[in-house]
Amino acid sequence: MVIKSALIPVAGHGTRLLPATKSQPKEMLPVARKPIVQYVVEELVSNGIQQILFITGRSKASIENHFDHDPDLFRTLTEANKLDLLKEVDFEPLKANFFYTRQRLQKGLGDAVLCGENFAGEDPFLVALGDSILGLHAVSRAVSRMADVFDSKRASCVIAVEEVPPEETRHYGIVQPEEGDGADVFRIVNLVEKPAPQSAPSNLAIAGRYIFSPVIFDMIRRVKPDQRGEIQLTNAIQFMCEEGRRVMAVKLSPEEKRYDIGNFPSYFESFVEFALADPVYGAELRRALERLLAKSAALV
Ligand code: UTP
Repeated sequence: MVIKSALIPVAGHGTRLLPATKSQPKEMLPVARKPIVQYVVEELVSNGIQQILFITGRSKASIENHFDHDPDLFRTLTEANKLDLLKEVDFEPLKANFFYTRQRLQKGLGDAVLCGENFAGEDPFLVALGDSILGLHAVSRAVSRMADVFDSKRASCVIAVEEVPPEETRHYGIVQPEEGDGADVFRIVNLVEKPAPQSAPSNLAIAGRYIFSPVIFDMIRRVKPDQRGEIQLTNAIQFMCEEGRRVMAVKLSPEEKRYDIGNFPSYFESFVEFALADPVYGAELRRALERLLAKSAALV
């Protein structure tokens, strides 16, 4: 089965990345040469997604501008015969349609997904977090595998999951597999938000990509806001598990590592890893880093 529609929630405040995100969306921060959300869009399109709804908010207009046609830039680059650069800023060939709606108050990821209800209609759809890249340079077929599982298992929900070090479970939503956790595709019976390592049901973390049947919207409406007033998407998925609906997980391969760019340590590391892999500038950066590391080692 091909899933054709996707929601990309990009309305969050990004407070963990202040002051960088004071007046620009965290999803527009560059990782090496491209903004984070461009990697997300390229990944989705390469997995067959044809229409994308961005759930945006105030101060997120630059996302809309980024994917829009810019006649002045187009003319300038054409006149300067910079055709390679032109290709990199022209999103027409991607053959995806972009739509935008606003989440009026930032009431959590569940609430953001609810903003896509009319867009999704009666069909299953993908949710891809706008601050998470899958794989170096977004090379991931996970969404296509998830779509196949959605179809073959007649699932209500399929979630991408990733192994994390057991001592880090408290940073993630962790899934409880039905039995064992050795398989690459398995059924989930429960999810726990940020458990301590000793109470975590596994070390498999929810990794920023979900496929849902439209039944998720009713589940989200049943979720009560948490202490911060946020409607959590994981609570809605928990309701699905409790009702005995089939909630499946697809494990990401090591090459599909999730870059969750929600905090500075992870942003810095992602930037450096992507820049080191840059075909033009990577080698030069490597030499510069080696120099810097040798200098800082000499100072210790
Ligand atoms: P996060 O959980 O990282 O939240 O969102 P956040 O608000 O962006 O960041 P912090 O916690 O303040 O630092 C994961 C994804 O969900 C979107 C975000 O834009 C991000 O892409 N999101 C989150 C929404 O669209 N709406 C929300 O209310 C919350």
